[in-house]
Amino acid sequence: MKEKLGSVEERELFFPPKEFCSKAVIQNPEIHELGQDREGFWNEQGKRLNWFEPWDTVFEWDYPFAKWYGGGKLNAAYNCLDRHLEGARRNKAALIFEGESGDRRVLTYQDLYREVSQFANLLKSLDVEKGDRVTIYMPMIPETVIAMLACARIGAAHCVVFGGFSAEALKDRIQDSQSKVVITTDGSYRRGNTIPLKANVDQALPSITCINNCVESVIVVKRTGQTVNMIEGRDIWYHEAIKNASIHCPAEPMEADDMLFILYTSGTTGKPKGVVHRVGGYMVGVSTTHEWIFDLKEEDVYWCTADVGWITGHSYLVYGPLSNGATIVLYEGAPDYPEKDRYWEIVEKNRVTILYTAPTAIRTFMKWGESYPLSKDISSLRLLGSVGEPINPEAWMWYYKHIGGERCPIVDTWWQTETGMIMMAPVPGITALKPGSCTKPFPGVHIEIVNPMGDPVPKGESGYLVIREPWPAMLKTVYGDDKRYADTYWSQFSGAYFTGDEAKWDDDGYFWVTGRVDDVINVSGHRIGTAEVEGALTDHPLVAEAACVGRTHEVKGQAVFAFVSLKEGISAYEGLINELKTHVVQKIGSLARPDDIFLSTELPKTRSGKIMRRLLKDIAEGREIGDTSTLADAAVLNFLKENMDAQK
Ligand code: WTA
Repeated sequence: MKEKLGSVEERELFFPPKEFCSKAVIQNPEIHELGQDREGFWNEQGKRLNWFEPWDTVFEWDYPFAKWYGGGKLNAAYNCLDRHLEGARRNKAALIFEGESGDRRVLTYQDLYREVSQFANLLKSLDVEKGDRVTIYMPMIPETVIAMLACARIGAAHCVVFGGFSAEALKDRIQDSQSKVVITTDGSYRRGNTIPLKANVDQALPSITCINNCVESVIVVKRTGQTVNMIEGRDIWYHEAIKNASIHCPAEPMEADDMLFILYTSGTTGKPKGVVHRVGGYMVGVSTTHEWIFDLKEEDVYWCTADVGWITGHSYLVYGPLSNGATIVLYEGAPDYPEKDRYWEIVEKNRVTILYTAPTAIRTFMKWGESYPLSKDISSLRLLGSVGEPINPEAWMWYYKHIGGERCPIVDTWWQTETGMIMMAPVPGITALKPGSCTKPFPGVHIEIVNPMGDPVPKGESGYLVIREPWPAMLKTVYGDDKRYADTYWSQFSGAYFTGDEAKWDDDGYFWVTGRVDDVINVSGHRIGTAEVEGALTDHPLVAEAACVGRTHEVKGQAVFAFVSLKEGISAYEGLINELKTHVVQKIGSLARPDDIFLSTELPKTRSGKIMRRLLKDIAEGREIGDTSTLADAAVLNFLKENMDAQK
């Protein structure tokens, strides 16, 4: 079946095979209508978890603050572990770990429960209490998941910092969260090399200003065996400390509204925001969406390739799947190590049935060619997922054909660190798919596309993506800064949460998210604030000013393009550009490294002195320059245009 999408090319509708639909978890075509009674819908879904105390109210709305499942008490780790121990799941594989260098470990639910309880007891012995924060700076190994669940078990909030962040980025996050304990490894593996995580922690800690009791201990898990410097009285080897830890640790009954974790994410200002998620609503949201969108069955082997340092790792590698009693695959390394068929080898070996990955990975696989997936037996796959950035129809089709063998539905899932759970995606047994569209809001979720005045646009038009009604896994606040929460998310459009994204609606009511309209760049599905990169550049002693924009990149989606002006009297020299790029890597991490840096004596500004990023973006993209009427000095623009090619 084909349909026309306005003036855009024809786009096909794809229906999941009948065989798939007839066995799907959700087969009721009315499910979206049922979700319109949000309170009733989420009340029903709340029952999927085990609660120590039932809730009194599904949600209370004190704009822009919402409370979900008020009065209810539960524990996230209990829901991911204890409740699976009574029946047949006790000896089911909870976590299959594939190490980069070929080592492998399988933990059953019973194993995971035991190790989490021991780790939780270790944290308790270090005086970690309910409400304390614990920073986790680790690679993708089982102990990372264990550490997260151990925190959840005793009611401490974990703050996972992606292992690719630099010592300085780590410092900012520990400082803001005032973590009592940091958990790390000696190092991590990346394509056969090692990265010194513990050394980064050592570098980060001395400059932290503690308000009280922060970073009293550092727990070090041995992974690479590289030499580390252990500080007496502060640093503890995990394998030694855990030896005598009891295997029993009661799960702390938490208020539904209590904090489960903080996750830092980039926004429009230089300082990352600590997004706070809470136990009750978050767990209900991720558990429901995980089961329905991934059509989870008891026998599935589910693999989410996201790093636990990002929200996808939190919601759909750890909390969603484990709360549903799934078998998860955790892979430590790179997709091309030791060969470019590594993912398919893992799928073949474990007979993975559900694969959830990012468009940037799919585009990379496309570039490498079909021979790699063809060389392995990946016929066990039955459902594919995509997340993190818009998936272009070409990549969608390649994924569908060469990975899914034209039999697996693709669930393109739109959501954010702040939303906690998937907000738009197909429910695969009932939703027809369109390549490049995340289809429709999840049942019980209300999303609108509005014009600059905040009025909904008619079907067929584009606008800003907003969420008007509260949803269970919504962020509670920005850590320690309720005002920033209200200002950042709830002030642009009256009465609505602004996502920062632009989207269009087609005649069938399908959503097409086109990307961010704020100062956030999406590089390989990772959010990077332009202000953060600019701050890192201007921190360099020779730089006067910097402006960064995202430019379209064939594989990464977007790449950072930086315009830099040097201080008065400084002239460029050989190697300066690389020096500036390295400086950004040291300040933030390699994910923020600009692909291009262009040196200019001046940057285009408005008469009031604001840098005109819009024009810079036009230049970076190599397209016609837009409206220049507010530009203070047109000569700057001519300089940029003329010298771009020369500097490349
Ligand atoms: C983008 C990742 C189009 C979007 C879960 C959003 C997407 C930002 C999609 C959040 C998708 C995520 N289609 N765009 N399926 N999924 N995005 O916080 O711009 O790392 O605002 O959360 O990624 O990124 P974050």
